[in-house]
Amino acid sequence: MKTVRKAVIPAAGFGTRFLPATKAQPKEMLPIVDTPAIQYIVEEALASGIEEILIITGRNKRAIEDHFDTSVELEQLLQQQGKQQQLNMVRSLANIRVHFIRQKAPRGLGDAVLCAKAFIGNEPFAVLLGDDVVYNPEYPCLKQLIDCYNERGGTILGAQYVPQDKVSSYGIVAGKPINSNLYEVEGLVEKPSRDLAPSNLAVLGRYVLEPEIFELLEHTPQGAGNEIQLTDALARLSGKVYALSYEGKRYDIGDRLGYLQATVEYGLQSPLCGEDFKEYLLNLANSLEQDKEN
Ligand code: G1P
Repeated sequence: MKTVRKAVIPAAGFGTRFLPATKAQPKEMLPIVDTPAIQYIVEEALASGIEEILIITGRNKRAIEDHFDTSVELEQLLQQQGKQQQLNMVRSLANIRVHFIRQKAPRGLGDAVLCAKAFIGNEPFAVLLGDDVVYNPEYPCLKQLIDCYNERGGTILGAQYVPQDKVSSYGIVAGKPINSNLYEVEGLVEKPSRDLAPSNLAVLGRYVLEPEIFELLEHTPQGAGNEIQLTDALARLSGKVYALSYEGKRYDIGDRLGYLQATVEYGLQSPLCGEDFKEYLLNLANSLEQDKEN
């Protein structure tokens, strides 16, 4: 079985759910504490053994390219100021093997993944959605999927249960349980209505795919939202497809509440400000409690 070495991060969406913040900057660059969301995703890929990353961008996404590029002026300044730690940090970002390609029109996630065809060639690859940040420092989410792929082959979808009233926001799995966290996928529906959803197990932002998917994507018509949907191509795969209910807390950072939750919870974990922030939140909670009583 071939090793999963390459990853694709689709980051071409307009971020309309997060306007006005995303009018002139990519949602993937919104910081969670002091780090842009996409950096967490890139770091997860590297921690999972990925060697080469392709980010699918679009218009207004230049900031992502700049973030992973060398910044000569900044490096010179940090050097002059003797800020070695910061210098190492910005240099390490520019050393990551990240490549970029632009999706020419917003034709959907399936079309964005198809843009990676030449980069991937004939090997299995990972997809990490730029919206979905998953917290699991011990066992990175993508590593869980890659380990499952190495054991079983086929296509692996990262999934988690979502509340019944949220199924229409996701790709939903119809599956047969293999064990407590793995399902053999028998059907997939993109953003079904509540009544038509086969379950509330949702595909959440992580995939390990075989290159056969490209051929299917080339022939996938527009689906939900008039976009070419990755889910529709996955539903037509002839080989085995598994849904792995991964361990880790997933935040939808393209959504206001998801973004706020990620900020608070990553803030609490921060070695630089976590303790102070916790104290602040406890005081805030106490004063809210008092307000309620008055
Ligand atoms: C995409 C996928 C969907 C998946 C979701 C969350 O939808 O099409 O199947 O469940 O991401 O990872 P989007 O959020 O881009 O509309």
